[in-house]
Amino acid sequence: MSAAPIRKIAVNTGGGDAPGLNAVIRAVVLSARSRGWEVLGIRQGYDGLMGDGTGILDLDENAVRGITHTGGTILGTSNRGNPFQIDNGRGGTEDRSSQVAERFRELELDALVAIGGDGSLSIARDLHERFGLPVVGVPKTIDNDLAATEYTFGFDTAVATATDAIDKLHPTAQSHQRVMVVELMGRYAGWIALYAGVAGTADVVLVPEVPFRLEKVCEKIVEREARGRHFSIVVVAEGAAPLGGKMVVEKTQEPGREVKLGGIGQWVGQEITRLTGKETRFLALGHLQRGGQPSAFDRLLSLRFGAAAVRSVEARDFGTMVALQANQICSVPLEEATRRIRTIPLDSDVLQTARDLGTCLGD
Ligand code: F6P
Repeated sequence: MSAAPIRKIAVNTGGGDAPGLNAVIRAVVLSARSRGWEVLGIRQGYDGLMGDGTGILDLDENAVRGITHTGGTILGTSNRGNPFQIDNGRGGTEDRSSQVAERFRELELDALVAIGGDGSLSIARDLHERFGLPVVGVPKTIDNDLAATEYTFGFDTAVATATDAIDKLHPTAQSHQRVMVVELMGRYAGWIALYAGVAGTADVVLVPEVPFRLEKVCEKIVEREARGRHFSIVVVAEGAAPLGGKMVVEKTQEPGREVKLGGIGQWVGQEITRLTGKETRFLALGHLQRGGQPSAFDRLLSLRFGAAAVRSVEARDFGTMVALQANQICSVPLEEATRRIRTIPLDSDVLQTARDLGTCLGD
């Protein structure tokens, strides 16, 4: 017996935004509409499936006109709306996932294309495993830390933004003979810091994968001084930590939310001044890394992912995520994609390139 035809699908965007989200939405909508399907957009991650019904909108060709190059997401997003762990306002959480599954069925949806990072895709995986919801994931995050895909969209743009910032810090560092410390995002992975640090020719790059020693960082700065280079650029991933030390947490965990990292760059800057006497300035690039127009690479990847997700729906390849491997789009089980995060392998040629170029990695 053949399965009933696909008629109506939904798409949502969850977790921190990333440049390229709108391009994925456009590709999903146009690819689905060309097959004669209806598309609903769910607002603010999974919140739109839990509220009063106002969180759902019709997406036709007109709704996705002219958005490929724009940042943010026309659907809105949330990194506090995990239906399995909704903040109950009393310091705990409650499980409202069955409400999501019910609403999904009421809307007579044949599939959900869930665009997200490890958090939102884990929710999609659990909705698939627990309630049999037909989901296909699309890997999004500036952190580039999802297993089973070589790139997530958003990463390339974040690296370009961070590299541009490092380029702009160079002349002021040089003019004032200062050490400039810039903290970059990436959570528990150092991809953004490593790629932008190497591309921006930082003198020191500290990433979570390589625990650092302050003496090594200071040695590099002092050695540059001795060579007449009276300034240094130090790039610190927000998840970097000293050998034997802990990551610095800006905010402790709120119910149903990830901890928020931040502050390690400032500490490194203060310690550099204390240990070397050099004047230091600190900057956390923050959410600028999530903004702006997606790069051409991210746009194309987003469009490829979105179209491929619709092909997965058509093939009823559910419980999967579209991924990029050897520059080809493929499909991987969501379970595999969310089992662990992908950090920089210690034999990465980019790490080795940094070492070959004399960049201090703090070890
Ligand atoms: O996962 C993307 C990311 O930007 C991380 O790099 C960063 O740690 C986190 O999100 C910041 O989250 P928020 O938007 O809650 O400040």
